[in-house]
Amino acid sequence: MKHLLSIESLNRDEIYDILELGDSMKASRGTHSHQPLEGQCWALIFSKSSTRTRVSFEVGIRELGGKVMFLSATDIQLGRGEPIEDTARVMGRMLHGAVIRTYCQSDVEVFAKHSNIPTINALTDEEHPCQILADLMTIREKLGSIEGRSVCFIGDGACNVPASWVWAASKLDFELRIAAPKSFQPSPELLTKVGANARIHITEDVREAARGCDVLYTDVWVSMGKEKEAALRLTELANYQINDALVSLAAPHALVMHCLPAYRGKEITAETFETHAQTLFDQAENRLHAQKAILQLLAKKP
Ligand code: CP
Ligand code: NVA
Repeated sequence: MKHLLSIESLNRDEIYDILELGDSMKASRGTHSHQPLEGQCWALIFSKSSTRTRVSFEVGIRELGGKVMFLSATDIQLGRGEPIEDTARVMGRMLHGAVIRTYCQSDVEVFAKHSNIPTINALTDEEHPCQILADLMTIREKLGSIEGRSVCFIGDGACNVPASWVWAASKLDFELRIAAPKSFQPSPELLTKVGANARIHITEDVREAARGCDVLYTDVWVSMGKEKEAALRLTELANYQINDALVSLAAPHALVMHCLPAYRGKEITAETFETHAQTLFDQAENRLHAQKAILQLLAKKP
């Protein structure tokens, strides 16, 4: 593994390597003396807002012995039109790794190719791989295993987070259910790429999808970059909310998860959010541990 650009590009063993190392990073936090990023300087290059991803990478890089700089894409020449290829070739001569949050998946891929330094996708319009790796870690931590489980995604099924879930379902043995209105379901192109082997069920029927599932998961209705569609999205997705009635259909032990930030009264009610706050904030915390695992695995390569 030279880069972490997508769940698509990982195989099952690589996913489990990250999850197991993430568990051990969590267990040994504050006591491990191994500093795999010692002498290294990494950059976070972000074109979109972030709380969890930014803080967890900044803390994680420092805890692994590295130094880190945050670069807002609008503050560097990239924002004034310097090509990604040139930005990447300059940064590749100075930095030891890059963590990028942007719009187009191809931009992270181009950066990785031209910089020749480990590059991590910290969210694009197409995938949010670090999120789903931390989520898998959380599910294993809470339920013992992801294999054989059923994860039910409710809401905007066409955005980055469910897309990464779709890829995860194609690599690991669990069932993914997506409940979304027709126009917010994963694209046929994505499903064709993933192939028929993955256990993925897509429906407009939110109650049918939730019935008996092990995990109920949601994401914002208006992803970053989709603000102009906000009114339409709030109307179309109004019935795709995680609330106590929906949770009562899931398995009694079901986890309620959300990548956050959460908009109460939209994709999740305030009551359901607070009932499941422990899981939700453990999930957020696991971003740190899972990403430290990713950083260590990437940093050890020459
Ligand atoms: N879930 C997540 O990626 O959060 P941020 O946008 O705050 O980084
Ligand atoms: N789908 C959301 C995820 C936020 C972490 C977005 O892209 O804004």
